[in-house]
Amino acid sequence: MPSLPLHLLPDTATVDDRGALHLGGLRVADVAAEFGTPVFLYDEAHLRRRCREAVDAFGHQRAVYATKAFLCTAMARLAYEEGMLLDVASGGEMHVALAAGVPADALTLHGNNKSLDELRYALREHIRYVVVDCDEELDRLEALHAEGLPVPRVVLRITPGVHAHTHEYIATGQDDSKFGFNLANGSAAAAVERARRSPAVELVGVHSHIGSNVFAVESFARAAEVMARFAAPLDLPELVLGGGLGVPYVGGEEAPTITEWGRVVLDACRSLGVTSRVSVEPGRSIVAAAAITVYTVGVVKRIPGVRTYVAVDGGMSDNPRPVLYGSGYEVVVPERVLDPRDERARLVGKHCESGDVLVFDAEVPAGLAAGDLVATPVTGAYGHSMASNYNKLTRPPVVFVRDGVARLVVRRETYDDLLRCDVD
Ligand code: LLP
Repeated sequence: MPSLPLHLLPDTATVDDRGALHLGGLRVADVAAEFGTPVFLYDEAHLRRRCREAVDAFGHQRAVYATKAFLCTAMARLAYEEGMLLDVASGGEMHVALAAGVPADALTLHGNNKSLDELRYALREHIRYVVVDCDEELDRLEALHAEGLPVPRVVLRITPGVHAHTHEYIATGQDDSKFGFNLANGSAAAAVERARRSPAVELVGVHSHIGSNVFAVESFARAAEVMARFAAPLDLPELVLGGGLGVPYVGGEEAPTITEWGRVVLDACRSLGVTSRVSVEPGRSIVAAAAITVYTVGVVKRIPGVRTYVAVDGGMSDNPRPVLYGSGYEVVVPERVLDPRDERARLVGKHCESGDVLVFDAEVPAGLAAGDLVATPVTGAYGHSMASNYNKLTRPPVVFVRDGVARLVVRRETYDDLLRCDVD
């Protein structure tokens, strides 16, 4: 009868004496009743605490929130208010951050294939710096210079040849990667030379990001070391060491805290005599554990001798991570948190394919039935941001809870939203 790993829940989670889960001072079942399901519920205090932890660990304007993990105007504002800069990886992310009122000089632009239009947008807005990924982007920046656009500050993305131990789809530091200028084969040094000579850019630093959901702090220390050695003779003001800190998703997993990550990275830089400003780009470690997704059970199919399927009102359209990366999640029943979890079930969605799985083999309390609420913790990163309209499901709303107040920050899509772009 394994008990629920309560540390996976957001910081303000509490359980009342009737076994009901509360977040941000509100009973989860009440919030679900008000906003419907599925719904992403974020603990705002948790979000703010993680932003502040990153700023305390790395310094003011040295912790850059990777908006790809979760972005809406409320989140962009929150991260900025707490002292973070924002990393945007497309013109669209930049647009949302600017619409939120985040000043352009707090934004850094990423991407491995930025279009001329995206770069033009960034230069017109005077963003803080562009992280240049390849020679074609330097060509495009030179073309924009010829058009008379302002000269941007740039940081070059380097592939340091450090293999992070994570899922192959989200490992990026190894030589065999679509990202960045390769350190080992001389492309990185050649790019530095080119950028230094070019009148179209002002080279201010170098960047690396070895991958995402990395648990081994040694990998970060190793990347810091490789990058510090490369950067030292260049004498540039910025050294950006990417994001990538992992978080526990299921019982038994443990990850370093942001504070511990900061210590390892900054110690490595200090011991190598780095004098540049060292900054990082955390996404997942800021937002992942801040949210739970709450669903309603619609069907329980018990196949004797085979397995039990519990089907909910969402699925791979609001959380594609299990299907994409085989990621694991736990299941919480918000009204029965303290009940023994002595049944096993496969939590599935309502999409038209067998691969539509949210939790492959979940421990759940006995007797789940249609109408019960279930929730998956640690869905705050790469859930809402990777959500789709597959099967024309409408994307769920996002609700921030804090001090007994629930605030709708992204409304649920409507059927009309599904027709918004159809013109004929
Ligand atoms: N900086 C750069 C340049 C990145 O490419 C990324 C993530 C980050 C920072 C933030 O990394 P984080 O701290 O969130 O690990 N969809 C995948 C994750 C893809 C990460 C892409 N890049 C997932 O759901 O696991």
